[in-house]
Amino acid sequence: MDSLVLNAPAKINLALQVQKLRADGFHELKMIMQSISLADKIKLSKSSEGISLSSSSNELPLDNSNLAFKAAESFFSANQVEGGVEIYLEKNIPIAAGLAGGSADAAAVMRGLYKLFELEEQTAKVKSLLAQLGSDIPYCLHGGTVYATGRGEVLEQLPELDKKHLLVVTPAVKLATPTVYKQYDNLAAESEFNFEAILKNLKFEEKVNWSLDYKNDLQPAAESLCPQIKEVEELLKESGAEFTLLSGSGPSVFAVYPLAKQAEQAAKNWPRKTDFITAAETISSY
Ligand code: C5P
Repeated sequence: MDSLVLNAPAKINLALQVQKLRADGFHELKMIMQSISLADKIKLSKSSEGISLSSSSNELPLDNSNLAFKAAESFFSANQVEGGVEIYLEKNIPIAAGLAGGSADAAAVMRGLYKLFELEEQTAKVKSLLAQLGSDIPYCLHGGTVYATGRGEVLEQLPELDKKHLLVVTPAVKLATPTVYKQYDNLAAESEFNFEAILKNLKFEEKVNWSLDYKNDLQPAAESLCPQIKEVEELLKESGAEFTLLSGSGPSVFAVYPLAKQAEQAAKNWPRKTDFITAAETISSY
């Protein structure tokens, strides 16, 4: 095998609770992560030596400050293999948007390199390499519906959700994750929502009960930095969504609709022309 193409799916958070600020500067979290059909595409081709990166996007760095590049570096330093890799990144997931686009790319590069060089992917070792690159990246290795704790790297697979029809809207504003967490600390709000009830719902019941605390503790902080989030959420509610929430540290907001055609209709009629908007659906682990 000389080359292969992989999907790198985005994620949304169905719930995100901040527990506390840790001594290492990270926040202890409880999250429900969910993969969606919106995805970057990555082509890996074997080369004689070194790592090179190119992309359809001119907004991304193509050197070793890019997480996809870092994942390749980590693969080659952890494994004795001959040769190098050319990475092509078709970018479809908005950047710095709360959808784990960069994390998804890094995890897909790691997964792909194990396949390309025909090495057995030892999941625990790979996850520990990925955790060094970013909190969300171990989750992005296999995705699905997952309960994540720690700083986001401690993972428990949950039963697959029945397919949800979504609209994802990203205002044309980039929100840096550390800035949102800092603002969360400044606002000093107490988190009170009942995560146990959410876990019980997802583990033992057929239907998602959206009236439980499916919330995101980062939402007030993100909204204070980007007032467009509120406006987007209002419009999504008016368009017939049964549920809306900020994803991760934002500014992406997702909406759940009872029917796919409602999501498509809402996308077609979306009034804010500068937003990135896409209909999508939840997907299972890959
Ligand atoms: O791990 P990652 O590189 O994605 O984190 C980026 C930043 O987001 C961290 O430096 C930290 O400021 C914030 N963060 C946090 N707690 C987490 C995850 C991220 O405070 N659990």
